[in-house]
Amino acid sequence: MKNIILTGDRPTGNLHLGHYVGSLKSRIELQEKGDYEKYYIMIADTQALTDNAKNTDKVRNNLIQVAIDYLSAGIDPNKVCIFIQSQVPELFELTAYFMNLVSVSRLQRNPTIKEEIKQRGFSNTLPIGFLNYPVSQAADILAFHANVIPVGEDQLPMIEQTNEIVRAFNNTFGNVFDEVKALLPKNKVCARLPGLDGKIKMSKSAGNAIYLCDDEKTVKEKIMSAYTDPNHIKISDPGKIEGNIVFAYLDAFATEKHFEKYLPEYRNLKELKSHYQKGGLGDVKVKLFLNNIINELLTPIREKRKELEQNVDYVYELLFKGSENAREIAGQTLNIVRDAIGLNYQKLLNKK
Ligand code: TRP
Repeated sequence: MKNIILTGDRPTGNLHLGHYVGSLKSRIELQEKGDYEKYYIMIADTQALTDNAKNTDKVRNNLIQVAIDYLSAGIDPNKVCIFIQSQVPELFELTAYFMNLVSVSRLQRNPTIKEEIKQRGFSNTLPIGFLNYPVSQAADILAFHANVIPVGEDQLPMIEQTNEIVRAFNNTFGNVFDEVKALLPKNKVCARLPGLDGKIKMSKSAGNAIYLCDDEKTVKEKIMSAYTDPNHIKISDPGKIEGNIVFAYLDAFATEKHFEKYLPEYRNLKELKSHYQKGGLGDVKVKLFLNNIINELLTPIREKRKELEQNVDYVYELLFKGSENAREIAGQTLNIVRDAIGLNYQKLLNKK
């Protein structure tokens, strides 16, 4: 069976380096490998509304930003169908059927949901839509019969929930869906890139992110302020690598080619780390090296972004076309689903 890939993001902010190494980069690699029958990337605006009910402006404005981020980072609309969740109403019909197969208490036990409810301070104010988003996410995936889902590790409970829905649906109504697989980032730093402050993972809400759209000056300022080793005061002091954000980013981004080009005194990251640990290597030098690497990555992305910002209509048209394609596929699935459930009333007509 050929792969059908589907993944998505909530449009609540511009994409940052955490998104880049955690998902965008491998999405582009998948796109180039070409080992798939269909490849969808969904901008999950409806899901974003589940905790932004009154912030529709934010969701709407970020939708186009996220689309521009995808395209400038190298997602190719000729290879990938990029679509808008809300523009595919079939997804919500499928969600409605799935909702009857999942209990409230099961959703409340979903570890990601549990954590997010805590973070958002929802207690008596928990919206049904928010609690239900894993069910809706299962519909996003299954409407396209997607079987490969590139996501971060925080999304594993959603994949598990999807597979439970697959089993419940098939047991109740006959075999319609196949179980799905998560595709996780290859290494640990990439799966959970820490924020500039070194405290938690890079995120918009924590204000500790470097965005793909940040200009050169901003990137440099952010890197220069990144958390390193607070006890590494004099250059001659031995430095610590663990918890040192600059080294975490180098783990995620630096290659031997970068050393050749920007820091030829060292062959690789191992040599740089060992010098830092021994003492005699200052933070500024390491930070400037990182700054070169990040700018090399972001310069072409910024240029492409500038072009697209001049041509926003083109981006919208692309999303509309993608959404139309997605509707057609989801519509076919919904016919099968209604049939399986027994809701195809047309069949009951006594045609003469
Ligand atoms: N919940 C995902 C996130 O926050 C976004 C998403 C929505 C998604 N629907 C999806 C991801 C379907 C993969 C598949 O990142």
